[in-house]
Amino acid sequence: MTSIRFFFLSGFVAALFVLAPVGPASADEEGEINYRKSVMKAISGHMGAMANIIKGKTVNKGDLKSHADAMAGLSNMAGNVFPKGSDFGETGTKAAVWQKPEEFKSAMTSFQSAADGMAKAVSGGDMKAIGGAFGNLGKSCKNCHDTFREKKKK
Ligand code: HEC
Repeated sequence: MTSIRFFFLSGFVAALFVLAPVGPASADEEGEINYRKSVMKAISGHMGAMANIIKGKTVNKGDLKSHADAMAGLSNMAGNVFPKGSDFGETGTKAAVWQKPEEFKSAMTSFQSAADGMAKAVSGGDMKAIGGAFGNLGKSCKNCHDTFREKKKK
């Protein structure tokens, strides 16, 4: 009796192993595109929030540093969201990203240093420097979008 029970149990356990998904889901191309868009949306969210603070439209001035630090972190993530093969389907990314890798890298690097510059300016606390750094940051978005992003939003 005991051994029969054991048989049933071990069969059940074995079945569980068969049904269990094998390891973590592997990254896929559509996933890369969705992730890229999410990172860009987060970047855009912090940009909008900082604009509101700098223009004095909210009492939440103390949040500026958190937004600027988040932007610096996101700019580093942005460097990894254009893997090869993520250039089809529902994406507004132009093939130029992979065809002109040097130019794209330089647009990415200017964005990353502009984001670092913004974080430093905010830590410094000088409003004039903050305004200038914010302007540079905005230019770095446009600089990349002009060449590497489709004009019409998909
Ligand atoms: C180095 C290039 C580069 C930089 C810098 C860059 N972007 Fe983008 N961005 C892109 C590309 C390419 C896309 C298209 C992504 C796609 O659809 O696959 C995009 C898409 C977007 C989108 C649309 C996301 C969606 O939901 O489809 C927003 C919003 C955006 N960027 C905002 C910004 C802002 C704000 C900045 C600057 C603070 C910025 N980006 C900096 C290349 C860049």
